[in-house]
Amino acid sequence: MRCGLAGVGAAVRRRAVVTALVGLAAAGLATALAACDGRGASAAQAGEGTGTNASTGVRANVTTSNGGQAAAAAPLAAPVKVAAQDLAAHDLVANPAGQTRAEVYESVRQMTALGKQLFFDPTLSGSGKLACASCHSPEHGFAPANARSVQLGGSDMQRAGLRAAPTLKYLQSVPAFAEHYHESDDEGDESIDAGPTGGLTWDGRVDRGSAQARIPLLSPFEMGSSAARVTAAVKAAPYADAFRATFGAHIFDDEDATFKAVLQALGTFEQTPELFYPYTSKYDAYLAGHAQLTAAERHGLELFNDERKGNCASCHISQRTRDGAPPQFSDFGLIAIGVPRNRALPANRDPRFYDLGACGPERTDLKGRDEFCGIFRTPTLRNVALKQSFFHNGIYHSLEEVVRFYAERDTHPEKFYPVVGGKVRKFDDLPRRYWANLNTEPPFDRKPGDKPALDEAETADVVAFLKTLTDGYQPVGKTVALATTGAAR
Ligand code: HEC
Ligand code: HEC
Repeated sequence: MRCGLAGVGAAVRRRAVVTALVGLAAAGLATALAACDGRGASAAQAGEGTGTNASTGVRANVTTSNGGQAAAAAPLAAPVKVAAQDLAAHDLVANPAGQTRAEVYESVRQMTALGKQLFFDPTLSGSGKLACASCHSPEHGFAPANARSVQLGGSDMQRAGLRAAPTLKYLQSVPAFAEHYHESDDEGDESIDAGPTGGLTWDGRVDRGSAQARIPLLSPFEMGSSAARVTAAVKAAPYADAFRATFGAHIFDDEDATFKAVLQALGTFEQTPELFYPYTSKYDAYLAGHAQLTAAERHGLELFNDERKGNCASCHISQRTRDGAPPQFSDFGLIAIGVPRNRALPANRDPRFYDLGACGPERTDLKGRDEFCGIFRTPTLRNVALKQSFFHNGIYHSLEEVVRFYAERDTHPEKFYPVVGGKVRKFDDLPRRYWANLNTEPPFDRKPGDKPALDEAETADVVAFLKTLTDGYQPVGKTVALATTGAAR
């Protein structure tokens, strides 16, 4: 049983192909200007752009539908279909301020430009040293540039968080969190409950980029700031005039309004397609028929998809959706896979402390709901080769280690968990009473003595395949993997 809730197996998961859903943009429809916040821009740019995106079918990906689930989880967000060509009509309906389409796009453009400056601005932080980009580096797929398990922050820049900083790319299609997720009507069988799915952060506790941005800005172990401090910083910033022009001449008189505007601008910036979801990996080129995989990469892909080998694609979807949108390499399900305790994290020095994901302590609304303990959102694997720490607690630092964990967690648990008095303490980061939540689908269906799902050569091939998921592939000549910092910078 995958999640202890619905008895849905990996076979179902694999079909849980998710088109673009109500994700970062969810809040948009609720507020006047945000009527089109990022989504409008995304749709427009993806649909009208002539660049690389057109060839990979990104356009289809801006279609938004969440089978009604988003409405429940995010009351502000109506489950509205937004295709690029429908935008004009949609704008008029959802934009009570009565702005024309051109005006809305202009607002989005200004907000994106401001969001970008805010994203790189360390003066917003309590220490004056930490910007969003410090932990989410554009050159590293908006994941950290270093190999620390967790990043340091706080007023003295010495406070460690609990979790690895994730990539900010491809979040546009993360659906709003739902305890019982049903596939969208375009995609499959709505009657199937795929279990807890979606939401931003490792435990899915917020639904929108703008709401998410509040967390690092205010967290004492991240940017450690406040609405007052952020307002003062923006007021003194070189972009203060642009900020006034976008949000109103008197915006700085109201700290709350300024803070909200900052969050909105950041959330809008995070939906810049060229930066955050360009779909320019070698694998995208391969799917479009513009590139060949090497023998190792192709074999790695087969192992990744093979239900009896890696079975990776059952959660990290590798195929285009039915309507042709590129795969996100996640079904966004929240799953317990029993990642070992990272004893290097300061919080874990306390043996009574456990980061249990969706049931807390960071997330509080599902506290006491045992079936949510130990589950974390399946991350996208796009650009994963640019990361240097893996899993929610950053315990592993190479993709080989991660793939070996999948292949040998159950056949050779002593390789991953502490051995005390000759006995392996398996699942040492999840109290035993929650073990029923652990996934037992392949490759997690084995026992000591069985053959691992993947041998060393196969592991190497899976890693070779994962490296084809890095954006910035240049089809000419040798394969080069470049970070995508281009276009909009
Ligand atoms: C000190 C490092 C740090 C800084 C600075 C930081 N973040 Fe993060 N970010 C994280 C971590 C760690 C997580 C995962 C949090 C969790 O799961 O609880 C995260 C998660 C996110 C997510 C959700 C990603 C996902 O996969 O759901 C978004 C969006 C995000 N950050 C945006 C921002 C923005 C915008 C800023 C600046 C206002 C920022 N971050 C600053 C470390 C940081
Ligand atoms: C049952 C669903 C499931 C299957 C099957 C699965 N994964 Fe995952 N994957 C997850 C979840 C959930 C996480 C996050 C777990 C955590 O941090 O607690 C994850 C995390 C990862 C990460 C770390 C990404 C990051 O940014 O830290 C990599 C790499 C990865 N998986 C690769 C694979 C490969 C390769 C396979 C096949 C051998 C595979 N996964 C099979 C659900 C799955």
